[in-house]
Amino acid sequence: MIKKCLFPAAGYGTRFLPATKATPKEMLPILTKPLIQYGVEEAMEAGINQMAIVTGRGKRAIEDHFDISYELEHQLKGASKESLLNEIREVIESCTFSYTRQKQMLGLGHAILTGQTLIGNEPFAVILADDLCYNEDKGVLAQMVEIYRKYRCCVVAIQEVAPENTNKYGIIDGKLIDDSDNIYRVSTMVEKPDPKDAPSNLAIIGRYILTPEIFDVLKNTKAGKGGEIQLTDALLELAKEGKVVAYKFKGKRFDCGSVDGFVEATNFFYNINLTFAPNPLQKS
Ligand code: G1P
Repeated sequence: MIKKCLFPAAGYGTRFLPATKATPKEMLPILTKPLIQYGVEEAMEAGINQMAIVTGRGKRAIEDHFDISYELEHQLKGASKESLLNEIREVIESCTFSYTRQKQMLGLGHAILTGQTLIGNEPFAVILADDLCYNEDKGVLAQMVEIYRKYRCCVVAIQEVAPENTNKYGIIDGKLIDDSDNIYRVSTMVEKPDPKDAPSNLAIIGRYILTPEIFDVLKNTKAGKGGEIQLTDALLELAKEGKVVAYKFKGKRFDCGSVDGFVEATNFFYNINLTFAPNPLQKS
């Protein structure tokens, strides 16, 4: 039903300079896997296999990552380390990747609009790769696809944040319409409000399911907070018509766009890796 996932990946990643000077921030690894691959795998788990990536200058490494490296394949063939390529091979074999470039950084809303050429006229998912999500059971995007099936409108993932942090997020307010599933019909949303102006402490995190209607709204959305075209402002227009629900997802989310969140995610994944996964990290 949702076949495509859009990854806005043109941002500079200034908070991680100098690491991000010549390396896309989406390629920074949590353990041995780049952030964007976690996102792609989450989309795959939600039944999506067409990845649409909005890149920019200096982002070639993303394209190379999701392509075969004949040299590496040749070098590692038959060697014990060959298995380390298995995970990414599976991703490459089961998905398609298409790319378009955002020539100017005019905000998340602008990045989504730039992706229209890859999405066309159908509902689609959005993953912001620096929000890394984990759920032992069903992944966050897979949970959201189920919500979309039921409500057939835009879905944003939310979590409660400390009131003093509302100025880091899009904040929603709305009416709880499904208690057991933690779903709100969104009535208002504001991009990064000061705590004193925030309508609640329910923050949007980087997972969305959007209907193609969003593109027409974005075309008419003026620059908002920070002088950027904000997805939150465009979604507000649809929310006014009752076309946005917010879902308090099950699982964890790490803000890997900040050094603290990145370190927290690294420690978390290191620990679960030692406990559950087939384990390339373990010393032999
Ligand atoms: C973007 C959105 C914001 C959302 C956040 C989630 O902001 O504009 O509404 O809460 O992602 O990570 P950014 O963090 O890109 O500034």
